[in-house]
Amino acid sequence: MRDLNRKANGQDYGNRDIIDLIAENRNNNDHSSIHNDDGLIDPFCVEENPHKITFEDISSAAFKIKGGIINTPCVKSRLSDIIGIDLYLKKDFLQITGSFKERGARYALVMLSEEQKSIGVISASLGNHALALCYHGQKLGISVTVVMPVLAPIMKIAACRQYGANVIVEGSDMGEAKRIALRYAKDKGLMYINGYDHPDIMAGQGTLGLEMVQDVPNIDAVIVPIGGGGLIAGVALAVKTLYPNVTIIGVESERCPSFYAARKAARPTYTPIDSTLADGLAVPMVGYNAFATANPLIDKLVVVKEEWIAIAILKLVENEKCIVEGAGATGLAAILAGQLDELKGKRVVLPLCGGNIDTTILGRCLERGLAAEGRLLKFTVTVSDRPGGIAELCRMLASIGVSIKDIMHERAWIMSDIFSVDVKVVCETRDRDHSEQLKNMLHQNYQRVVFGTSDMSTLNLPLNINTSSNEQKRNSKDPLSVQN
Ligand SMILES: Cc1ncc(COP(=O)(O)O)c(C=O)c1O
Repeated sequence: MRDLNRKANGQDYGNRDIIDLIAENRNNNDHSSIHNDDGLIDPFCVEENPHKITFEDISSAAFKIKGGIINTPCVKSRLSDIIGIDLYLKKDFLQITGSFKERGARYALVMLSEEQKSIGVISASLGNHALALCYHGQKLGISVTVVMPVLAPIMKIAACRQYGANVIVEGSDMGEAKRIALRYAKDKGLMYINGYDHPDIMAGQGTLGLEMVQDVPNIDAVIVPIGGGGLIAGVALAVKTLYPNVTIIGVESERCPSFYAARKAARPTYTPIDSTLADGLAVPMVGYNAFATANPLIDKLVVVKEEWIAIAILKLVENEKCIVEGAGATGLAAILAGQLDELKGKRVVLPLCGGNIDTTILGRCLERGLAAEGRLLKFTVTVSDRPGGIAELCRMLASIGVSIKDIMHERAWIMSDIFSVDVKVVCETRDRDHSEQLKNMLHQNYQRVVFGTSDMSTLNLPLNINTSSNEQKRNSKDPLSVQN
């Protein structure tokens, strides 16, 4: 810490300097310098004195960010008939940096004093807030430094660098990244902008709610994903102030249920989190201001399973031609999982609030979604090793329109007779009925057929997402599903 302070006091800090300082401190085993919370306080987010934003804050934000933010389309979902909900999708992933976070980031930057603008700002973020801050910092000529934890998605880190910001990839989670950023803010006199709890951030996010009620008349409910709670705080306040009867539903991933924990404890509380497809929601403790503003306005809180997030991502690609990241797909995940069946027949708005998903993760989500829906199957079948044995199997699959994705065979290690071969197949079907047809056909024609299971295929998903499955019923009774 000695060196960190010394260097911080007199030098022009480039990104390299900061990374070097952190590395130096780590090498010196001086972990206390970075992990020690002493004096590392964000004056805008204080537990004892939480700041509730007002509707006027949101309308001021709407006015001041108007020229710099896209008023994104809100369109009726093609899934409406299938799920039995009059569903509208607010496509905020169409913002330049791919998420709603631009709203709050721009407003927070616009609201800085001239002096603060000349010094610059710092923040810690898993990605979307960092991207938004870096982009609007560049547009407004304000220097931005962001600390991103090592688990932040690679494409988000790379994109931040493109906007000319100081990007520090450090800290195992958001908590650690935040401490590093606060330390640097203190040393350099920079203003720290919390990505979900700074009052201007929440007010900026509230403009999404204003647009939703302008876009769609007579809304019954809105479903909002929760990370640190800034989005739901702003949206709930905007919507409930104008239309008090609209139901506000918050959604979290089962891997990071920090709002649920806060609600239970009646105050923000540290919640251990696991890696999740909804990486934007992986915040171990919701914000004090966000909790104070949002908690009284949330009518229902649901916690969704990861597999439903994968299915929601798949459905959005297939049905809406939208690429949405896990965090942005949690609302649809809750609907598909049958956790919001009370919304059937109602008019609901769902913000698709982020589209920044690594391409490799997207590929895996789509495959997992297909497997969970019973459309991607894995089986091993023992066939005759005589010429034409495998060809016969392939012909059979082709005859019912099953598409082979992968096929391999094995002779040496199989236990059955010497004239047999095990063939392992991964194949794609149209739907669950088609999969059943395939299974019946294989069982009729071969003595030994073993279907592979993955954790996803044990889900027992409904054939049609309208129908209730056992899993859905279990989910809806999940104690984590909290109603106000
Ligand atoms: C795409 C997306 N959706 C939702 C959220 C949740 O927002 P908040 O942290 O304000 O609750 C985030 C947070 O980063 C996000 O990136």
